[in-house]
Amino acid sequence: MTVVFIGGSRRKDSLNAKLKHRLAEVADKHGIRHDIVDADALDAPIYHGDLEAADGVPESMKKLAEKIQSASKVVLVSPEYNSSVSPLIKNAIDWVSRVETQAWAGKTVLLAAASPGGLGGIRGLSHLRDILGNVKAWTAPLFACCPNANDESIAAMDESFLKQFLEQGEAS
Ligand SMILES: Cc1cc2nc3c(=O)[nH]c(=O)nc-3n(C[C@H](O)[C@H](O)[C@H](O)COP(=O)(O)O)c2cc1C
Repeated sequence: MTVVFIGGSRRKDSLNAKLKHRLAEVADKHGIRHDIVDADALDAPIYHGDLEAADGVPESMKKLAEKIQSASKVVLVSPEYNSSVSPLIKNAIDWVSRVETQAWAGKTVLLAAASPGGLGGIRGLSHLRDILGNVKAWTAPLFACCPNANDESIAAMDESFLKQFLEQGEAS
């Protein structure tokens, strides 16, 4: 089984993509098998019922649902916009919830965020936890937030904390 990392920003210099790669490095170092989903893979129209009725769920979202379904856990690394969730991640959650397999149900999800702000995106993650509860995912209690994020602060995040973060949801 594999941990799937999903980032919520398609920006070229995304801080959240950098945090996602830092987490993947820690996973590598500790033998945690993983797969990184590029944020571009979340490309899909904003959920619209008429679109779904006409064309079904977009292929990109069906593929994402398959990845989530086969993962042991999912790590969402999401920017915070106006105290809430990245629209890219919200849209992906909505579309995946329309796929018959219900890939989110029972899935262990870990939440992380990086922000140039002092709160590190934690307010967005608490909204994300509520949304994930609605699709019956289990959100792990520890969040990995990087406030005042930049290359240096992301690199300086404590490795043992990140390992502990990644190990959540496993029998100890
Ligand atoms: C519309 C908008 C709203 C934002 N709101 C917040 C916010 O509420 N909290 C926060 O910490 N950062 C906020 N930011 C700053 C983002 O955290 C920052 O742009 C970050 O770099 C985006 O993530 P990325 O680097 O992964 O693309 C906001 C940015 C934008 C464009």
